[in-house]
This record gives sequence, structure tokens and C-alpha cells, in this order.
Amino acid sequence: MNFKKGLAEVLYQALEGELASQNIEQLIEKPKNQDHGDLAFPCFSLAKLKRKAPNLIAQELSEKIQSPTFEKVEVVGAYLNVFLNKKLVAEHIINSIITEKGKYGAHDFGQGGNVTIDMSSPNIAKPFSMGHLRSTVIGNAIALIVEKCGYKPIKINHLGDWGTQFGKLISAYKRWGDVEKVKANPIKELLALYIKFHAEAETNPALEDEGRGWFKKLEDGDQEAHSLWQWFRDESLKEFSRIYQLMNVEFDSYAGEAFYNDKMDRVVQLLEEKQLLVESDQAQVVELTEEELPPCLIKKSDGATLYATRDLAAAIYRKENYDFAQSLYVVGHEQSLHFKQLIAVLNKAGFEWADKMVHIPFGMMLKDGKKMSTRKGKVVLLEEVLNESITMARYNIEEKNPNLADKDGVAKQVGVGAVIFHDLKNNRMNDIEFSLEEMLRFEGETGPYVQYTFARASSILRKAGWKAESAPASVYQTTWENEWKVISMLMDFSSAIKRACENYDPSQVAKYIVDLAQVFNKYYAEVKVLEQSEEQSARLALVYSVTVVLKEGLRLLGIEAPEEM
Ligand code: ARG
Repeated sequence: MNFKKGLAEVLYQALEGELASQNIEQLIEKPKNQDHGDLAFPCFSLAKLKRKAPNLIAQELSEKIQSPTFEKVEVVGAYLNVFLNKKLVAEHIINSIITEKGKYGAHDFGQGGNVTIDMSSPNIAKPFSMGHLRSTVIGNAIALIVEKCGYKPIKINHLGDWGTQFGKLISAYKRWGDVEKVKANPIKELLALYIKFHAEAETNPALEDEGRGWFKKLEDGDQEAHSLWQWFRDESLKEFSRIYQLMNVEFDSYAGEAFYNDKMDRVVQLLEEKQLLVESDQAQVVELTEEELPPCLIKKSDGATLYATRDLAAAIYRKENYDFAQSLYVVGHEQSLHFKQLIAVLNKAGFEWADKMVHIPFGMMLKDGKKMSTRKGKVVLLEEVLNESITMARYNIEEKNPNLADKDGVAKQVGVGAVIFHDLKNNRMNDIEFSLEEMLRFEGETGPYVQYTFARASSILRKAGWKAESAPASVYQTTWENEWKVISMLMDFSSAIKRACENYDPSQVAKYIVDLAQVFNKYYAEVKVLEQSEEQSARLALVYSVTVVLKEGLRLLGIEAPEEM
């Protein structure tokens, strides 16, 4: 039972279909002040439709709507304020959480449709950047959230494993490389070789030709070139995998750019057939004048294909292979133009499903107000960041709870959780200021704060020896003012998930769990839950409900919830 939806239904009946129930549901608000009710429906947008003053409409509606779930309905100006039947709601919510546990808050509107999520997608032989971290964290949370809404997520790591730079890398490795060094420190070594290549090429332009030559060999399937490329890829992936393991992120596919090498002739042919390819400066492009976009480069003068060509092949492959309901690309906003062009070209080629492709951009990670860059010595190696966060979390534990059993395990959950939460707590378009101290704080809007609230609530249940089976059938007491605030928050979980899914915005869930943690901590400061009383068992059922929702909320962001910390 969804009470917001319930109100929307009743209003829909009362309005005799004048407004779609979906629109009604979207208009329903939650009053900031609970004295104004639990749900509110503003009548402004109906005024035009009905040619009547909004407060009159509110008055009329208030006389028409009735439901056992409402305690009373009040009109304040243009607002219809609905007070829910607290007993009915409280019992329904707590019982649902006790029986559904982690499934609480789920939706089924995804109807099992596949959602491909292009995420993380670092470049081989280059360091994993902050942008790749953000893509990994946001993509993973979106995958978990769409799954909670009934879709089937397919996480694809579109590795940057092809392009002329691999020719240069092979050439540099053949000149100056060392197997052992690369094995010991693949990305650092390969990056150094690549940088050296560029430095040397400034005085020795012949190197550029050599690099191009090696790329040509690679494209033609030369064995030596191919096995070096394969080795660079394997070693780089090993290093990336350590980061993914730290963050508990897994992929359904590692089909990167190279995977599409044999699928591009078809794309070029298709564009030719549709007469979309034109020559421009000896290169083949698709003009996008009507779309007010620059032309999309498909083939260079030397016949080499490009990033965009590979993305066209990938989009078609994903449609054919996964028949997606939605195809998402979690990639920084610097690439917005690229994705606009990609979608425009597919639209021009007549693929209706191109509308189902969504670029999900995000802002930058800043350090002291400046972009964190991986170039020119400013390399911030992500693994170091994660490990430092874990070390700091470990240090906090040593100070606050030196007797904790699994200190290392918990430090990992807290340290990594802190980095993830810091990334997800604001709308993804915002730039983020990177600060480990800020991330790891136990107060304020942080991962550790939510985890700590969960651990605290779990310890209450442990101390009381509470078991789900011992929950009373009827929990609500008329004296439950403080409790009602918590219950009313628990009621909103599913709406937060829905908003997060529809807007591809995990911050909706992050904000929700911070709010729930705050409301719960306030409750716990005011009500002595552990004191013996007739209400104790009912109150513990409420505490248990909070633990379930906090844990599930954290899980949807890709963060673990230690029972103790
Ligand atoms: N490897 C690219 C980069 O690091 C990101 C790839 C994004 N995905 C895609 N299908 N283009 O910038």
C-alpha cells in the first residue's frame, strides 16, 4: 500500500478524470511542518482547468474525498492538507518492513526491462581518474536503483582499449620498456613510457611515424603488436580490478572499444546506404546541420575509425544483444557533445530506439577549487585515495572503539563508504570538493554518520535481545508523537527511490537516508527505548524498521552497513 498513490487515486475519482492520476501523484507534497498534515495537494494548477479560484477548488475537493486511510482533511488557502490515519499507517508500514525486509520500498514499473549502463570505462595504460571514479560510483548506484524499480541492469565497462595511442605505446615499449617493471607497476610504467614517447618525439619526429606504423600493424592483426596490446590490457585490468574489488563493483561486460573492431564496417556501410556519409577534408562525416551540431566524424582520411564510430557500433550491438528498454551512459559532462552527436546520427539513420539512449553527465572533482588532474605530476591515484580513507577510518576506530572485533573489515566498509557517499550526496551535476576529513566526519551529511546511526540502532536491538518474531501484531499507541515522525519518514522511502530512478539521481536516496538518520537520532535522544515499558516491544519494532531501511538505502548506493563500528 502506497499512501501517496492512495490519495492520488481518491483525488482522481473526485476530479472525475480531469487530471491524470500520475500527474496528481506528482503534485502531492509532503508539508515541511507536520502540523499541516502528512500529505498536501496544491490546487493551483487546477485553477486554469476548472476556471475557478484554487482555494474554492480545495474546499470542494475536501468535501468530496473520503478514505479510511485519512484521519481528517483540512483546507489552508489553496492547499488540501491530509492527515493520515496514524494507527493504520504505522501498522501497515512496520508490518511491511518486518515481512518484506530488504524488499521494502521496491517498485515494479521497470517490468523486467533491460537497462544497459555504460559506466566506469577507464582507458588502458592510463591512470584511473576521478572522473572514472565518479562514473563507477554513480553508475553502480543507478544500477542498484533501477533494479529496485523492477528493471534488469546490465553494467558495461566500455574500456578505452583501442586507438592510435596503442601504436605509440608499443613503439615506446619496444625501445625502452622492461617486462619486470611493467609487471610490478603496470599503469605507472606504461604511463611513463607514453610520456617519454611524447617527449622524445618532439626532437625526433620520426617516432610519430613509427607509432603510426605500429598501430597499423595492430589493426592489421600483426601477432607481435597484438600480443603486446593484449598484455598491456590484461595488466591494466588487473590493476583496475583491485579498485573495483575495494569498491565491491562488478561488471556484466568488459566489451571495450576494441570489441567493436569487426563491427564497424557494418556501421559505415549502413550510413552509406542511408546516404548519410559525406566527404569533408578527405574524411567521412555525417552532417548534423539541422540538429545544430557539428558534423560527426566517422572515418579519417587514412581510413581509421574513431571513438564515435565505435560508439555507434556499440549502441547498435547493445540494442541487438540486450534489446534494452533504456541505454544509459554515465560519462562526464565534457562528453555531452559527443553523446548528442551519437544520438542524432542514430536518429537520422532511422533507429527509433535512439530516444531510449540517455547520457547521464556529472560534474568534476575539485581539489582546492581546481580540477583534479591526472596529467603533469598532479596524478591522484585513486587506489591511494581509497586506501588513505580506509587508513583514516581505521585510526578513528582505534580511537573511538578499540575493542571492536573486525577492525580492518569495518575500516574498509567505512573508508570506502565515506568516499562513495561524498560523491553521491549532491546532485551529480555539482562539482565536488575533495576532502577526506569532510568525508569521514561522524556528524553531518556523511556516509559514516548514516553507518554509525545504523550500527547504533542495531546495538539497541542486540542489547534488548529483540527478534522479529517477537514484534507485537499491533504497535501503534495514541501517545506516539515522536514515533510518528519516524514512521512518516519510513513511509517516504519508496518515493525517494522512484525519484532517484526517474531522474537518474542517487542523491535522492542519499538525502533520504541522512534525513531518516537525523529523525531517528532525535527520536532516540528523546525517548528511552531501552527502558522497560509496555511500549518497549513496539518501539523496538520501530527501531528494527529503521535499521532495515538505513541498510537498504546504503545498499542502493553501493555502501555496506557494519553492525558495529
Ligand atoms: N574511455 C572514455 C574516457 O575515459 C570514456 C568512455 C565512455 N563510454 C562511451 N561509450 N563512450 O573518456
